[in-house]
Amino acid sequence: MRAALILVAFLGIFSQCSYGSITAEEKLIRWIRRCGGTVDLEITNVSDEGLRGAVAVRDMNKSQIAVHLPAHIAVELGEGHVTSEENTVKLFRLKKENSAWNESMLPYWESLPQAGTSMTKQTYPAEPLDLLQDRILEASIVVHSAYTKNVYDGGKPALIESFQEEFPGVSYVDFSHITSVVASYAFLFPNEEGVAKRMLLPVMDMLNHADGTEHNLEIMQADNGDFYAYTLRDIDKGEELFHEYNTGIRRNDQSLFHYGFIREHDPPRLIAQDLPAGNLYEPAAYSEEDYEFGGRLVNKAELARLEAILSSFPTTEAEDAKLLEGKNGGWAGLLGGRSIQTPLERMFVKYRMLRKRALTEVIQKLKDALVITKEL
Ligand SMILES: *[C@@H]1O[C@H](CO)[C@@H](O)[C@H](O)[C@H]1NC(C)=O
Ligand SMILES: *[C@@H]1O[C@H](CO)[C@@H](O)[C@H](O)[C@H]1NC(C)=O
Ligand SMILES: *[C@@H]1O[C@H](CO)[C@@H](O)[C@H](O)[C@H]1NC(C)=O
Repeated sequence: MRAALILVAFLGIFSQCSYGSITAEEKLIRWIRRCGGTVDLEITNVSDEGLRGAVAVRDMNKSQIAVHLPAHIAVELGEGHVTSEENTVKLFRLKKENSAWNESMLPYWESLPQAGTSMTKQTYPAEPLDLLQDRILEASIVVHSAYTKNVYDGGKPALIESFQEEFPGVSYVDFSHITSVVASYAFLFPNEEGVAKRMLLPVMDMLNHADGTEHNLEIMQADNGDFYAYTLRDIDKGEELFHEYNTGIRRNDQSLFHYGFIREHDPPRLIAQDLPAGNLYEPAAYSEEDYEFGGRLVNKAELARLEAILSSFPTTEAEDAKLLEGKNGGWAGLLGGRSIQTPLERMFVKYRMLRKRALTEVIQKLKDALVITKEL
C-alpha cells in the first residue's frame, strides 16, 4: 500500500445541479459503482452555509472501506512540484487529446464546483481582501492571483508555451477556476516509481477536512493502483466523514489561502503568521502549548509582540462579532456603515474575529505563565 503524502483536496459550495430528479453528486456515485467501485457514503449539505460534505450511509467498523475507486477513473496530473497552473494545462491537454475519455468522465466533471464558486488564492476577488485586516495574507493572495493571470496572459512556466494559443476560447474565468479546483481538489500520491503525482480522485475529493484526531478516514493506494478510503474508527450511519488534507493547514490563514475555508477551533488557534517564524506554507514550528508554564515562548518580549499585534487592528473582536450578527448600526466606519453582503465577506470578517479571539486567549495564558515565573 502507498500512503497519501498530502491530500490536497476540497471545499466547494453545494450545487444542486440536477439531472431531472437526481443530483450531480448522485449521478457521480452511480457512475463510480458502474465503473466497478464502491461508495458507502452520500454527498449532502452539511452546514448552514450550504457546504457539501460526505456522510456515511451505514454503520462502519474501524478499518472498513468507505470508498473503493478503480485506478482507471482517477486522473493523473503532473508531478508534485509542478504548479497548479501547469497541472491545469495538463488537464486541458488530456481532455483535448482524448475526447472519448473526456466524454466518459462527464459525471466527474459535472460534480466539480461551477465557475465562480471555488474561492482560493487563485480566485479571490481583490475588492473584499482588506476585510481580512491581514496585510501579509492579502499580499500573498494578490501575488498568487497575479501569477495565475500571468500564466494565462502568456507567462511561460516549464509546461506551457502559450496558454491562449494552445486553448483559444478558454476564458480567464474558466482557467483560474479550474486552477483553483486542481489546486484544492487534487491529492498527492507517489506513483509506481515513487514520484509524487497530483491525482484527481472522484468523490474522494468531496470529503471535508478535519485534522488531528478529528478525521475519521485515511486514503491509500493499493499496489494495483486502486484507491481506498478506509475508516480510522467505528462510524455511525449519518456521521460526516473527514480526511486530513494536509498537516500544513491546521491554522486559518493557511486553510483560507490554500482551500478557501476557516474553522472555529476549541480552544482557539493562532494563525500561523502570529507564531514566531510561522508562514502560509508549512506546519507551524510552535504552538499554543509553548505559551504555557515551562513553554518555549514564555518570556516578556513574546508578550509584547503578541500585544502589539492585537492592538494593531482597526476593529476589536467584539465589534467584528456584532458585524457578523448584523448589528453594524453603531459602528461608524465598519464596512463603511453597511452590513455584510456575501458569504465571502462573512468568512473574511470571521477570520479576523477568530484571529483576535486566539490572540486574546494566548496573551492571557502567557501572562498567567509569567506570573508563575515571577516575571510579571
Ligand atoms: C443547507 O444549506 C442551506 C443554505 O444553502 C441552509 O439554509 C440549510 O440549513 C442547510 N441544511 C442543512 C441540513 O444543513
Ligand atoms: C462491527 O463489528 C462487530 C463486532 O465484531 C460486528 O458484530 C458487526 O457486525 C460489525 N459491523 C459491521 C458494519 O461490519
Ligand atoms: C469534454 O467533454 C465535454 C462534455 O461533452 C465538452 O463540453 C468539452 O468540450 C470536451 N472538452 C474537450 C477539450 O474536448
